[in-house]
Amino acid sequence: MGASDRDRWNDKWAERGVGTSHGSQLVELIRPHLPSSGRLLDIAGGGSPDSLTLARIGLDVTVCDVSDVGLIQARQRALSEDIIISTVEADLDVDPVPPGPWDVITVANYLNRDLFPALVAELPPGGILAVVIATVTNLERSEKPGRRFLLERSEILGLATPLNVIHHSEEWRSNNRHECHLVASR
Ligand SMILES: C[S@@+](CC[C@H](N)C(=O)[O-])C[C@H]1O[C@@H](n2cnc3c(N)ncnc32)[C@H](O)[C@@H]1O
Repeated sequence: MGASDRDRWNDKWAERGVGTSHGSQLVELIRPHLPSSGRLLDIAGGGSPDSLTLARIGLDVTVCDVSDVGLIQARQRALSEDIIISTVEADLDVDPVPPGPWDVITVANYLNRDLFPALVAELPPGGILAVVIATVTNLERSEKPGRRFLLERSEILGLATPLNVIHHSEEWRSNNRHECHLVASR
C-alpha cells in the first residue's frame, strides 16, 4: 500500500468520523470469549469505536492501522472517557505486526491474507483470534467491497490454521452483509 492509499484512508476517516458505515459486529462476536483482562491488538481498527468498547471491558487495547487520522480519532474517543488506548501506525502490507504476545487479536473488515501466519505466531497458548470479514457472497447484494477484499467461502479455516476453531459462521447478518465470523484459540 503506497502513500496515496494512506491518504485515501485518512480522507475516509476524516469524512466519516465515527467508523465504518456498515457497523462492525466484532464486539458482539468476541464478547463471550474475552478474558477479563489482558492485551488486545485490533488490526486495522482505524477510528472504529470497537477499540473503546473493548477497552471499557477492561482490556489493554492497542489499535494498529495505516491511517493516522483514524488512530487519532480512536485515541480522542478514549480520552474523552478517561480511558487510555495505545496506537501503532503501520502499513501492514510492509511493516511487521506489532510484537506480542497478545492475549486477543481482532481483525474486522480488513483482509490481508499474508498476515495470518504472523497473527497466529503472536498469540500465546490460549490466545484468541477473532475475525469479521465479508465473503464473496456479499457481492450478490453490494458491489463494495470489491472481490479482493472478500473471503472465499470457508477460506478463513485455512488462513487460521493451526488454531482451534471455537466459532465459525458465514451468513447474512443484521447489517445486510454476508460475513464470515471466526473465533479461534491457539
Ligand atoms: C473498512 S476499515 C475497517 C475498520 C475497522 N476494523 C472496522 O471494522 O470498523 C479498513 C481499515 O483498514 C485500514 N488499512 C487499510 N490498509 C491498511 C494497511 N496496509 N495497513 C494497515 N491498515 C490498513 C484502514 O485505514 C481502515 O482503518
